[in-house]
Amino acid sequence: MRPPADAIGTLALIVGVIAVLIFIGVEGALVYAVWRYRASRHVAGEAATFENNRRLEIAWTAAPALILAVVFVLTLGAMAEINGAGVAPAMRITAIGHQWWWEFSYGGIRTANELHIPVDTPVDLEVTSVDVIHSFWVPELGPKMDMLPGKTNRLRLFTRRAGSYDGQCAEFCGVEHAWMRIRVIAETQTGFDQWLSGQTLPAPTQGGAGERVFLSNICVSCHTIRGTAAAGTAGPDLTHVGARATIGAGVIPSDVARMRAWLADPQRYKPGSLMPRVPLAEADLDALAAYLVSLK
Ligand code: CUA
Repeated sequence: MRPPADAIGTLALIVGVIAVLIFIGVEGALVYAVWRYRASRHVAGEAATFENNRRLEIAWTAAPALILAVVFVLTLGAMAEINGAGVAPAMRITAIGHQWWWEFSYGGIRTANELHIPVDTPVDLEVTSVDVIHSFWVPELGPKMDMLPGKTNRLRLFTRRAGSYDGQCAEFCGVEHAWMRIRVIAETQTGFDQWLSGQTLPAPTQGGAGERVFLSNICVSCHTIRGTAAAGTAGPDLTHVGARATIGAGVIPSDVARMRAWLADPQRYKPGSLMPRVPLAEADLDALAAYLVSLK
């Protein structure tokens, strides 16, 4: 199959060319008429000299109808292509919208905000929401798809080019709507398989100070770290949080210093988010930030 974005691009090009030709035709006729009849005068009350031209009226009724019919048929074809009609998906991934982050699930392996897909592989993203309406949109990969609570929509993803593609929630969903960034990482099948098998591993039990801080605080009621007792599901799964490039669905890049700053006061970076400020001692913040970023 062709990448959905290419199908959209071709359709946009065809419609664009048609629109430009019509523009040139109409403006050209206008300029010609002004020039050709520049010396004529219209006297008020006199009948116009041009009326009841049946052929012309039929032509300018039929031509737009014909153009619209052509565009309609081309659009139906593009829609079928974008949906991957006739091409079975090689893989299904679930995407769930939350206020204000993305959950991606690969057969039970949950991750957040960064979606990994293999190139040259038709992937079906099954999208839904747990709270309000969100919309998954990565412009370079294809159309938007609404994420509706209680309903699952399907979005076909397919790309030939490895690399990272940025996207954004495209349906206003509350105060932090602008901070629902998506990053899609498309990689070769080998790279993707390595990534996925890494994700299936639980976090190594470290028994260190950071892990103790995490497990003995409120963190565990919302977050999961597989391999530990933490099994909350309200917030992002943190089993491999250190491998993600950003914190808070794109709010800040991820490193130990910024993770510490985020943990010290999440509401400063993402006001309104469900992540509360947890009062922690300075040393505990240091240990917790180092622990989380170490979870690659
Ligand atoms: Cu989610 Cu806007």
